[in-house]
Amino acid sequence: MDNINKKACVVTFGCQQNEADSEKIKGVLASMGYDIIDGDMTADVSNKFGEFANPGDLGGCDVIIMNTCAVREHAELKAFSRTGQLKHYKNKNKDLLIGICGCMIEQEHVVEYIKNSFPYVDFIFGAREIHRLPEIINQALTSKKRILDKTECDGEVIVEDVPVLRDSQFEAKVPIMYGCDNFCSYCVVPHVRGRERSRNKDKILEEVCGLVSSGCKDITLLGQNVNSYKNPDPANPDYNFTDLLSDIIKIDGDYWVRFITSHPKDVPDRLITLMNENKKLANHFHLPVQAGSDRILKLMNRKYTREYYLDLVEKLRKNVEDIAITSDIIVGFPSETDEDFEDTLDIIEKAQFDNIFPFIYSKRKNTPAAEMEDIVPRKEKTDRFERLVKLQNEISVKKNKTYEGRTVKTLVESVYKKLYGGDKADKSDGGYLAGRTSTHKLVIFRGGIDLIGSFVNVKINEGRLHGLYGEICN
Ligand code: 5AD
Ligand code: SF4
Repeated sequence: MDNINKKACVVTFGCQQNEADSEKIKGVLASMGYDIIDGDMTADVSNKFGEFANPGDLGGCDVIIMNTCAVREHAELKAFSRTGQLKHYKNKNKDLLIGICGCMIEQEHVVEYIKNSFPYVDFIFGAREIHRLPEIINQALTSKKRILDKTECDGEVIVEDVPVLRDSQFEAKVPIMYGCDNFCSYCVVPHVRGRERSRNKDKILEEVCGLVSSGCKDITLLGQNVNSYKNPDPANPDYNFTDLLSDIIKIDGDYWVRFITSHPKDVPDRLITLMNENKKLANHFHLPVQAGSDRILKLMNRKYTREYYLDLVEKLRKNVEDIAITSDIIVGFPSETDEDFEDTLDIIEKAQFDNIFPFIYSKRKNTPAAEMEDIVPRKEKTDRFERLVKLQNEISVKKNKTYEGRTVKTLVESVYKKLYGGDKADKSDGGYLAGRTSTHKLVIFRGGIDLIGSFVNVKINEGRLHGLYGEICN
């Protein structure tokens, strides 16, 4: 295919799994000859008006792909709003191809809506069909027909060796398993991403080895239930997530390995011991609790009690020195009472999370929770949300203050643009840089851009709500 001088853009919504899928989509498009325009700016989630942050970038594109998220209604509305804006580009360039993929198009009612409301969308494809993109694009170009029926492909099969165009040379995302079997009652993921299936361990080890030898410093293993990983090789059926981590950290080099997202039901003692023993394993556990009341946890089908969860947090804190624990919380689940909510505040207080990602419950079609009576008024949900954020902010500041006076190994990520002088960082004057600790705390300090992608030691002078401020002391 002759795509010389043609440009493509992938706009990504949602989680790190979607970011990893987008890296594959970009890899496939690049292998077809397209120049890839950075779509991340265009999906800027902080833009409340649902508009593209950098609309100019899209003007010259020949292919635009929206990689969507369905986990909450807000993400869907934003993707629809952005798709609506693409009409303007199609009017200007009738040869522009517009494709939609990701979790949204795994839902029939969404596909119907796209068919009827966005006549300028040319094709859709599933996350399990990325390797078929050349065929789909070719078909769209030659047939001049819309391709809105997803092809039946074997959802159980993991296609390996799809080209990847990574967003960063020193921080990499490595999916190790896909799908989810947990069926939390509020969650659309098992319905759109399918059943759990894991990659072959040798393929994962090969990928991580390659990344480390090319200088990658921070590797995040990804999965909707990353710690439920099971090697699919029948010759080695008992090989699990802890085995995989043990093998990964045997790879020589100066790097960190992280993993996200874990389900609290699958945290064996061996994993905790391993985290304590090996500094290559980042000192951070993201462990979504979702709610603090046993009644709500049961309605959510989370398969654990608050007591089990708090015991697990205690075990982690006791056995892994300095570990940072973060969590996801849903506020306003159907029938949540004041008392239930107080239990959520109480679990936050007791667990002393380093940080949380709080969400207001969002009703998702075809999930069991969508059938439950949702009696909590909107105002009550937002009030609860604010109380929860306020409590967590106090805890986060307190946690960050404990870093004051300490020197922490930090991976330098980027220029820190938010602070005065940040975007002026250069080799001579050294503006502000942003980095991450092993515990995934944001660190802000002065330095030259040549440090980006390397480890430095930073002495922390001040812990604030959103990060640690310090100075390099190598
Ligand atoms: N409403 C609100 N938050 C949700 N999440 C998943 N489904 C929903 C929903 N329907 C949150 C959970 C999960 C995170 C990725 O998104 O907290 O851990
Ligand atoms: Fe959704 Fe629960 Fe699976 Fe996480 S574990 S993806 S919240 S169903």
